[in-house]
This record gives sequence, C-alpha cells and structure tokens, in this order.
Amino acid sequence: MREKGCGRGANAFKRGGGAGLALPMPFRNENTLLHHQQAGTVDAYHASYDAAVARVRGQLGRSYPLLLGGKDVAAQASFEVRSPTDRDVLIGRFAKASPEQVGQGVASAKEAFAAWRKVPWERRAELGDKVGKLLQERKWDLAAWMTLENGKNRHEGLADVDEAIDFAFYYAGQLRQHQGFELKLHEPYPGERCVSVLRPYGVFGVVAPFNFPLAILAGMTLGAVLTGNTAVVKPASTTPAIAHQFFAVLRDAGLPPGVANLVTGSGAQVGDVLVNHADVHGLVFTGSREVGLHTMEAWARKGWPGPVIAEMGGKNAVVVSDQADVGAAATGTARAAFGFCGQKCSAASRAYVHEAVYDAFLEKLLAETRSMRMGKPEDKDTYVGPVIEARKVQEFEEAIALARRSGKVAAGGNAPREGALGKGHYVEPTVITDLPKDHELATRELFLPVLCVWKVASVDEALHEVNRPEFGLTGGIYSRDPAEVQRYFDSAEVGVVYANRARSANTGALVGGNPFVGWKASGSSGKGAGGPYYLQQFLREQSRTVAG
Ligand code: UN1
Repeated sequence: MREKGCGRGANAFKRGGGAGLALPMPFRNENTLLHHQQAGTVDAYHASYDAAVARVRGQLGRSYPLLLGGKDVAAQASFEVRSPTDRDVLIGRFAKASPEQVGQGVASAKEAFAAWRKVPWERRAELGDKVGKLLQERKWDLAAWMTLENGKNRHEGLADVDEAIDFAFYYAGQLRQHQGFELKLHEPYPGERCVSVLRPYGVFGVVAPFNFPLAILAGMTLGAVLTGNTAVVKPASTTPAIAHQFFAVLRDAGLPPGVANLVTGSGAQVGDVLVNHADVHGLVFTGSREVGLHTMEAWARKGWPGPVIAEMGGKNAVVVSDQADVGAAATGTARAAFGFCGQKCSAASRAYVHEAVYDAFLEKLLAETRSMRMGKPEDKDTYVGPVIEARKVQEFEEAIALARRSGKVAAGGNAPREGALGKGHYVEPTVITDLPKDHELATRELFLPVLCVWKVASVDEALHEVNRPEFGLTGGIYSRDPAEVQRYFDSAEVGVVYANRARSANTGALVGGNPFVGWKASGSSGKGAGGPYYLQQFLREQSRTVAG
C-alpha cells in the first residue's frame, strides 16, 4: 500500500541542496488510508469505496466505441475485456480500430492542432486544473473501475487516481511556473531582441500500459495536450474501460473535440499505424523494452526525427547494508516487491543483503511476505490481488521451475487454481534464495511478484550487482551510514533512487517529489515523468530574433 504524503516535510531533502526548481504544491492525498487513520474516518473510507464498487458493477458489460474528433465511432470488430479477478465478469466490449480508423484519429488530431496550438497557455493550465478537480470528484468510482478491470486493491487503486490528479495539477503548475515557456535571452548585437519560445510539435501518439491505467495514461496524455500538442491515445488492450473514464473527464473539463482521440484495439496494429504515420510527429510510450525498442526502430525508419519519450521497464534492486534498520528494510522490500503483485516497472525483484544481517533480514522478509493476504482485490483485507492475464500465470510457473533448478523457493511459489480464486489469475508473492548471482533471473524482467535475494560480503559487492542488468529504473538502499548512502547514489546507474524508506524500498514515486526516470535500457529520454523537465520534452524551441 502506498501511504502517500506520509512524512513529507519541507526539509526532507535539505542536505541535497538544490536551487528551488521544485514548486511547493498541495498533494492530493485525502484518499489515502493514512489520512483517514489520522482523521479517524477509516470506516468512511471503506464505505465510500465499497459503494463505488457496487455502482461500477452496475455499469459493467457495456459496449464502447472509438472516440475520434469528439465523436463516438463504431468499428466493424470488437474485443471483450474480462476481469482478472474472475473471468466470468465481463468488463465491456470495445471497438477494435481498423488501420483506417487509427488514421482517422490522426487526421482529427491534426485538424484540431491548427486551433489548439494557438490557445494561450493560461487556458491550457486552467484545463489541467479542471481535469484534476474532476478526477478528484470521481476518485472512488475511478478506483473501483481499476480494481475490477486490472485487479488493483483499494489502496493501490486510489493511489493510482491520486497520481493522475497530481499529474494534472503539477503540469498545470509547470506551465505557470515557466510562464508558457517563453524566455528573454541576451542581445547579441545592440538592438537585437532575442527570445526563446517552446512550441508544440503537432500530433503525438500516446501508448499506455495496463499497470497504471489511469495515472500513466493521464500523465502522458496531459503532457502532450497541456503543452499544445494533440494526441491519439492507445490504452492497453486489457484496460480500455478506465481510459474511457478518463476521456469522459477530458470532455467534461472542456477539452475541444479532436485534441485527444481514443483508439482501442490490437496493440501491434494500432501502434504500427501511429509509428509509421507521416502526420504523427512525436511518440510517448510506457511499456516493455521489447516493444519500446521495436517502436524506436520503426520510428527511425519512417525518416522523421521527432521525439520518442519511452519508459521501458526495470530489474530493480534493494541493497541492505550491515548498517541497516533490518525491520524497515524487510517491510520496505516486501512492499516494493509485492505491491500490485510486482506488476510495476518500479517493483523490487532483487535484494542484495550483507551477510552480517542476512539471516535476520530473510526471517523478517519471509514473515512479511506470508502475512500479505492474497484475495479478491475488492475485499477489504486483500493486499495481493490477481495478475493481469492467464499468460502471466504460466510465465510465473516457468520462472519458479527455473528457480527451483538452481536455487530455493523460500516463500510462495504457487498459483492457486481451486476455490474462490480459481476463476482469476492468482500467483503467490514469492521469495527465491540461493541462486547464482549471474542467473538469468538476476537480469530478466518478469513483471511478477518474484523477489530473488542474495547474500553479499560488502556493500561494494552489492553495488557491483546493482548495475549488472541492462535496466536502470529504480532502486533502494538501507543503511544508517550517510557515506554509504552517498556511495550508493553515486554509483548506481539508476534513475530513481531512495534510501531507508520503510513505506516501500523503491516504488511509489510521487509526482513533483520523485520524478520517474529510467537510465540505460529503462528509458530513452533521461527526464522523469512528474518532474521539472518532463513537459519540455513535448516542445521544440524556436529562437526568435527581432532587429531594430
Ligand atoms: C510503472 O510501473 O510503470 O513509482 C511506473 C511507482 C509509480 C510508477 C510506476 N509511481 O511505483
């Protein structure tokens, strides 16, 4: 569970210095369990969520069109989405866009760009605020949609909505902070007035993942449209319902028709049309490394050098020093590994533990792991819900078989097929020990609740291992020695690093606080979502000079 807002103080990072690029901003954390615990309103929190689940259940099974140029557009073919918690539950039937219809989405976005690019940034910022407010008003239902469609438990579902809300307000705030990105420059010759302005590119293709089906979809779409671009948005094929909910928010906030268009359907087909279309001038993508690299290759072949902003997975490690608070380390690592069933590119899948604390750490980690209740994500006490698809259960079983051959399964390892969970895609949170350090499970991303733990003789040995995979997304260290923490920060080739977080070792990045950025094979741009350099990536500079 993500306890948002907990302990975030103005001085939290004072020692790090920094020139004040970060804006003070109110985080929207009134949903979180922690907030309700402090306010004594835990019962109301659960009741609001339960009521929303009942409401959303009454809306399941509908048919959804494409949304092109502000209009509902029917498609010849459709596909069904079923709940990962219970395959008998039909979420809805969704239009399967033909290549021509994807092209129609691009044409709508191109047409809308002509006017949208001229809309003053102040209006676009107001629109961001409006989107944030509407998401706030609909937060319980949005979380319930996520639970039923992608299997997030209530806390993770609400945290996902919170993150979307934060993106909307933060990016609106960034437009204001930078005054629409217009900057007066030097006068190279007397009387020559020079200005740098950042202007939009045109149509962006937005390709979103299933695991943060609201937050990441909203963050990328808002990144594109709040900067004056227009967008054709492709949600994951497993999570189109929540995308429709977000598009209803955009419409109700007053986004003009055609500025954002929603195309559902086969990932490869829609993606290919977007990548290869002559009128798509930028791409923003979150997903697997394989698809990301394929996209970049195809993009290069198109011969149009626009931006591809890609975030692409991780194989994230936790380092536990002999100077660690072992209890905090075990709690934080278990949460980072098993929150949303390990289906986060931020998730911890490796831990390197100093031999002096290895036994104590492992004992606590196994106890934490076994105490995480697996069940239907809509149930109050569930921590671990289902994985997204049947295919992932099979991949889990293959990974466990592989691990058993060279190491030990210390907790979990099973995929229940009987009883109440038999109709969903459930796998147990799993801890693996005693694998060789160069085993393929040390470098291959699984996107499953599987954590491998290794014993190391020193933090330096751990640091060497941290950098072994080609990925470099998130990571965490537990050590009371500031010099060791600093050494970790300086040598980890990782975009998002944390020290001593019991809340979670290395997941739960907050907008405006922990920009989410991948190094190495984890990302193409080196700039983080929810950070001070994100919006600039959707903009091109024009250098304007007036003489005399
Ligand atoms: C992802 O899994 O693609 O830090 C992103 C986190 C989330 C983002 C995860 N805010 O866990």
